[in-house]
Amino acid sequence: MADTVADLSGEEREKRIAELKAKMQSAAKKARPEPSSEPKRAAAQPAAAVQPAAERAVVQKTAGQAAAVRNNGAASNGGTAGLAQPVAATVAAFVEESPEEKAHKEMSRREFLTYGWGGVLGLVTLQSGVGLFQFMMPRFKAGEFGGVFFIGPETTLPDTAASPQPVTGGKFWLVNTEEEGPVALYMVCTHLGCLYKWEQANNRFECPCHGSKFTREGYFIEGPAPRSLDKFAISIENGEVAVNTGKRVPGSPAGDSPARVIPA
Ligand code: FES
Repeated sequence: MADTVADLSGEEREKRIAELKAKMQSAAKKARPEPSSEPKRAAAQPAAAVQPAAERAVVQKTAGQAAAVRNNGAASNGGTAGLAQPVAATVAAFVEESPEEKAHKEMSRREFLTYGWGGVLGLVTLQSGVGLFQFMMPRFKAGEFGGVFFIGPETTLPDTAASPQPVTGGKFWLVNTEEEGPVALYMVCTHLGCLYKWEQANNRFECPCHGSKFTREGYFIEGPAPRSLDKFAISIENGEVAVNTGKRVPGSPAGDSPARVIPA
């Protein structure tokens, strides 16, 4: 058999050339895309159809994963919230902070702690200052219960035989006595805290609650009261009689009272 066309005879060579031509035309026809149908199909199909095979595979895989996540979220939470949480967690896991961001956050935390401690220290200092100021300053003004009441010069005091004078603002009875001078008797009964009254007819104090009785000077006479009437401290300041309602002096025990009536 001849190796090349040139070795063939004239008729055989023509025949062989015709066969080769036919083969080449057939191969060229197969290799060439159809001019009419291919563009239309490409235009009609979505973008996924013209993507390379590898890209289509990635898109299909991603879509499959998203569908799986969506199905899991819907099954566990029963709504779209189930989809958002896993997606957010996945995104957060892959977002890493830069060193600058980390340093910035660290500074903010440090600043917050510094300012916080500064604020606490300031509050403690302020509170201590207020407490010291209140301790140094008198708690009550003159003329209000708990403070000092200025009665006036001694010459203006009531007579030693006069009835006790109530000073309701200071919660005391002012009594001028021959033996002790002026006394200020706390208006509250030493038994259970009722307000006793001055009974002019009997010339003594009597408690309406349980019947305790006291002399004009405040000494216990009889009744359930455990002691004589309490008194406020009295002094002379700048020529004036001053009653300090912040200093209460408890009465002596009932058994020590010189006016005590011993039951028969
Ligand atoms: Fe005054 Fe009881 S309260 S006698």
